[in-house]
Amino acid sequence: MRESTLSSADLIWPVFVVEGDRLREPVSTLPGVERLSIDLLVPAAREAALLGIPAIAVFPVLAPHKKDARGSGALDPSGLACRAVRALKDAVPDLVLIGDIALDPYTSHGHDGVLDADERDVDNDETVAILASMAVVHARAGFDVVATSDMMDGRVAAIRRALDEAGLTATAILAYAAKYASAFYGPFRDAVGSSRAGGPVAGPIDKRTYQMDPANRREALREVALDVAEGADMVMVKPGMLYLDVVREVREAVDVPVLAYQVSGEYAMLRAAAEASAFAWEDALLESLAGFKRAGADAVLTYAAVEVARRLQQDGGHGR
Ligand code: PBG
Repeated sequence: MRESTLSSADLIWPVFVVEGDRLREPVSTLPGVERLSIDLLVPAAREAALLGIPAIAVFPVLAPHKKDARGSGALDPSGLACRAVRALKDAVPDLVLIGDIALDPYTSHGHDGVLDADERDVDNDETVAILASMAVVHARAGFDVVATSDMMDGRVAAIRRALDEAGLTATAILAYAAKYASAFYGPFRDAVGSSRAGGPVAGPIDKRTYQMDPANRREALREVALDVAEGADMVMVKPGMLYLDVVREVREAVDVPVLAYQVSGEYAMLRAAAEASAFAWEDALLESLAGFKRAGADAVLTYAAVEVARRLQQDGGHGR
């Protein structure tokens, strides 16, 4: 009588990769998550694949001196993300590799795009052109899916055109279509070092000129429709846990796969409450993921993917 089920095949594992060798760095605001150097990421990815997790999303973490105002590292075919994907493809060929297309890991100011003349906002169109090249570089390096987490307008169409022109017709586009300007990205920004803006708007980073207002529901449907029309193969709602109403509405509005992201702050919130003995971690985690499935998500990105997949395997794949 159970109406929806959770299996490891529903999970996508977001991972952070750093330069170096045998490096495993905890993220203080994201307990249980570690930034790994490529040599340690490869066996971790192999374990994820063996547990039945079909895909991972790779986020590079650059040292501050490698960042600049234009995010030029994003276009480097021998940059960290591209080297990671080559190593992962060689070692775990069946694992689907999702590359993040946005400039924030690469910019000194932490924004997802380049800034306009007075440095108060991103320059949408200039950024779109860079993102299209970035998608080609990442697809050539071996990413199966390019994921637009930047929220610039028109980038899906530009990326689709650039991929087609480069002959990369098998690369899929996952559009972070409805991405809200959320406080719950805090731990992720700590992990990649993008939490504070510089320049005239120094202070905690504010992405409200391109990410969506949490109060808006119709706008999410409009953003999703635009991205699908521009050629997105899959769409995402993010954050997920706090926006399950949006997940459900998007699921009903389109026929492409709908993904949802249990973002860093949502994961950290569950961990912190469990550590304070408010509830049992695994029970709360599985319940939160059951909610995503019930809302209609076809796949869920969660930092707990490996942990959940191990637990599901113990339970014979049936959950609780
Ligand atoms: C940025 C990006 C963010 C996340 C994924 N890609 C943060 C942001 O928009 O500032 C957040 C993911 C999370 O919080 O887990 N392109």
